[in-house]
Amino acid sequence: MADGVAPTQAPVTYTIEPGGRLRGTIAVPGDKSISHRSVIFASIADGDTHISGFLEGQDTLATAAAFRAMGVPMEGPRNGRLRVQGVGLRGLRAPAAGSLDLGNSGTAMRLLPGVLSGQDFDVTLRGDASLTGRPMARIITPLESMGARIEAGDGTTPPLAIHGRPLTAIRYHMPMASAQVKSCLLLAGLYADGVTRIREPAPSRDHTERMLAAFGHAVHRADDIVSIEGGSGLRATSVEVPGDMSSAAFFLVGASIAPGSDLRIEGVGMNPTRTGIVEVLRAMGARIDVDNERSAGGEPLADLRVRAADLHGVDIPPRLVPLAIDEFPALFVAAACADGETVLGGARELRVKESDRIAAMADGLAVLGVDAEPRDDGMRIRGGALGGGRVESRGDHRIAMALAMAGLRATQPVLVADCANVATSFPGFADLARDAGLGIHVAGGV
Ligand code: S3P
Repeated sequence: MADGVAPTQAPVTYTIEPGGRLRGTIAVPGDKSISHRSVIFASIADGDTHISGFLEGQDTLATAAAFRAMGVPMEGPRNGRLRVQGVGLRGLRAPAAGSLDLGNSGTAMRLLPGVLSGQDFDVTLRGDASLTGRPMARIITPLESMGARIEAGDGTTPPLAIHGRPLTAIRYHMPMASAQVKSCLLLAGLYADGVTRIREPAPSRDHTERMLAAFGHAVHRADDIVSIEGGSGLRATSVEVPGDMSSAAFFLVGASIAPGSDLRIEGVGMNPTRTGIVEVLRAMGARIDVDNERSAGGEPLADLRVRAADLHGVDIPPRLVPLAIDEFPALFVAAACADGETVLGGARELRVKESDRIAAMADGLAVLGVDAEPRDDGMRIRGGALGGGRVESRGDHRIAMALAMAGLRATQPVLVADCANVATSFPGFADLARDAGLGIHVAGGV
């Protein structure tokens, strides 16, 4: 077994009893994006970093295992607490196995090359079947222009064989809004000679920039350009990871569509680059109240109260696409339960996530009897009654959880196949959802 590999999982199926409502008070697991970054930055910082609220999902555990395999001592994670003894920018060493298995994690596969391209050793990054099909040219091209040497499976997909070399700073205009690409280049910029400048076509999540500042490293933003100067190290700190808005999303939608729902979700990350879903749902008529706003480690968080509402269809503004990119499977379910038509465009990126999320949701909603028309870069959905049936998650955690929530408005049981990967981002989802009122039964699993 290569370092960091996750155990093979038995198939998991959800069966959702039709109807139900979501009530009570819940907390969702730690933010996946911030958890990945916390362990990456802590590993290459000088000194001990204490992380709390760390997401113990397979994706973030794969990142932790990868750095452990590269010689970074860690204690935990246990109950979300992880202590990382940083080895400094130049303290990593080649993993004994020569390769690291990153499972299903696109974020790990796109961020780690930023760190590894500037090392003085070689390493190969691998992933599961879904990850092996995901596009990597978006990071390979700019990293190579910094001097990196990367060989990809068929030229553009994992596995990635990275041959560490000295890097030089570049100016780069990203062709798509992608926090993963931006973060990869900021990490490479730490190792590069000079000032790396990255221009974003539209704002994307800025957790990397915030965390660099928290680890005592200067990062500058001027309009759409973010820049970093290489050569100086990171100072260990403590990181408090807020609840994941992308996980809260399923409950925001579930409580909005299920009559009689009144749910409180505590401690959710409210970074403005992640709250697109709240904006879209409110535009659809959702009743979401935000209170107890506070901040931890440079990231805002708050408690959310969501009550059932009569939703109506909307045209989703393109500017919200990067700010809600992971929430569209859930938003498509909201659209299916809304009065009238919802239209999304400018979201071609959804086709290259853990699955083709446009096709997966169009197929799933069609099984449930919804008029959903997939488009090249989005979807048109006319809300209506939901029946039931067997739907396929295509091994995509967010498709599985979104279609599970559709059961709240279905008239027949909904069977969601291939749900094991929910554990990549949301361990305990079924138990939490059941406690809140979803009639969910789980079959299979390890
Ligand atoms: C992420 C960025 C987004 C998102 C992914 C996590 C991150 O991807 O979809 O789940 O942590 O930076 P893109 O950068 O491809 O938009």
